[in-house]
Amino acid sequence: MRQLIKKILPSKLLLQIKALIHRTHQASLPFFAKNPFLAKCYFSFFNNAYQREQFSILQGMLNYNVRTKHSAQQTSNPLLRRNTHRLEKGLIMKPLKPIFALDYIEETQAALFFAINSEQHQADEIAWASAVLARFYQSVDLTQSTLLATLAAEFYNKQFAYDLSLTPYQNSELAKAPLSYQEFAQFIDTRRSTRWFKQSPVCREKIKQAVTLASQAPSACNRQPYEFYVIDQEPLLNKVSKLAIGGGGFADNIPCLIALIGDYSCYEHERDRHVIYIDASLAAMQFMQTLPTLGLASCPMNWPELKVVDNKISQLLGLPHYKKTIMLIAVGEPVSDGGIPYSQKKSAEQLIHFVNTSE
Ligand SMILES: Cc1cc2nc3c(=O)[nH]c(=O)nc-3n(C[C@H](O)[C@H](O)[C@H](O)COP(=O)(O)O)c2cc1C
Repeated sequence: MRQLIKKILPSKLLLQIKALIHRTHQASLPFFAKNPFLAKCYFSFFNNAYQREQFSILQGMLNYNVRTKHSAQQTSNPLLRRNTHRLEKGLIMKPLKPIFALDYIEETQAALFFAINSEQHQADEIAWASAVLARFYQSVDLTQSTLLATLAAEFYNKQFAYDLSLTPYQNSELAKAPLSYQEFAQFIDTRRSTRWFKQSPVCREKIKQAVTLASQAPSACNRQPYEFYVIDQEPLLNKVSKLAIGGGGFADNIPCLIALIGDYSCYEHERDRHVIYIDASLAAMQFMQTLPTLGLASCPMNWPELKVVDNKISQLLGLPHYKKTIMLIAVGEPVSDGGIPYSQKKSAEQLIHFVNTSE
């Protein structure tokens, strides 16, 4: 429709219409920005920018129900991950409560049993959940709850192996930082956004190594609702590179692109809708910071909320509606004469606001 209007109308008239729409929009802002209700009216009737996101979130919630009500097709269950994490938190409480998790232990055990019987489910996730459940039953007072006693009997009846080293441990066992602050500062400096790469393929094993460390990043309830789509084959590489709006001028020389994809189907509630961005960004940082140790460099690339490009990339990568592109990351071996913007950083004084109780 837009294309048709553009073809029919003279370009001068088009510019005048655009300017009028812009002026009307600017004039209406003070009214619609007055309160949340008017803002809702604005986004319901005059601006559909949130439409795709809302659809994806609902698709995610719908798919969460399918996944967590035992879909045999998955390698990971967000409910099992979250609840195993909750059990671990319960196990480190001071003092340890004699019984806990009564409201979610049944669904957790059912999810574990289902995962064990499914061919697809990832073995490490099963091993972690089994070990934590075993430790839980060892730690709580089974005489205080019939439910716990029944579930524990069911659990032990299955007689599967578990390794208690996959359960909570003491802080004294945590690895100590092998670098001083200065050494770490030097290491941080090895990463700068790099836009000029050698035209050689990026070793997939190295990408795997970097993702392995990225996966160590924190994530809400340890659900890790993201995936790294590695795009290193033509013609897809060229098509996706061109979609990145901020890739102008260097898109053609990117040998490998990572599309970091968030998965809304890890969540039951819309209140968690931002977690995909937070968790994926933490992992992205760890991924990018690892690359220089492997002789590689990277540049994160802006992925604005634009329906057209979102639809295009989803189509190219075959993403279901509940998966969302969060950012692209260009990866490659840097060329030594490629320029690096200086990119001055804000000072700690600018970034810190010590919140005093007297304020
Ligand atoms: C979310 C995000 C989006 C970015 N998008 C682009 C982009 O589209 N094109 C680009 O050349 N650089 C992009 N960058 C790189 C930034 O310009 C760069 O991180 C910033 O200038 C600081 O420089 P440094 O990464 O070297 O420390 C992006 C960075 C982030 C974190």
